[in-house]
Amino acid sequence: MNERVHQLLNEQINKEFYSAYLYLDFSNYFKARGLDGFANWYKIQAEEERDHAMLFYTYLQNESMPVTLFAIAKPDKEIKVDMDVLKGGLAHEKLVTESINTIYAAAYEARDFRTMQFLDWFVKEQGEEETNATDLITKMELFGSDPRGLYLLNQELAARVYSAPSLVL
Ligand code: FEO
Repeated sequence: MNERVHQLLNEQINKEFYSAYLYLDFSNYFKARGLDGFANWYKIQAEEERDHAMLFYTYLQNESMPVTLFAIAKPDKEIKVDMDVLKGGLAHEKLVTESINTIYAAAYEARDFRTMQFLDWFVKEQGEEETNATDLITKMELFGSDPRGLYLLNQELAARVYSAPSLVL
């Protein structure tokens, strides 16, 4: 495997685990606020991020490439109001999309078609994650300032259940 592609894939393991950590922090914030539905939504998001990390980890191992694990940084988003979390989530997903695109471009340059095919799933996934984060902001803007609206939105988010990624390696 091309050295730069390998390095970027390896770094992505850390970025995905960091995402899981960030979403756990968000979940923790909402749990303390008493909004269990929001806490549930972000906890499941954290589980999905852990799955993403494991997919990169397994992909490198399947390709017989060494994996190096680095320290996971402390979640760095400052939260003053609920909306900081929602907007922080969207901003973070946009960064991850950039990161996936960078790996894709490197794989394309190296004519590493197998890695491109592996990354296709993540390209689609990032589109979905940005849409979900945007939809949540829209709903919060529409209903979040009314206690009854917030209560119903919290109930809606409580219904989210974990499902394993559709990509299996
Ligand atoms: Fe692993 Fe939210 O992207």
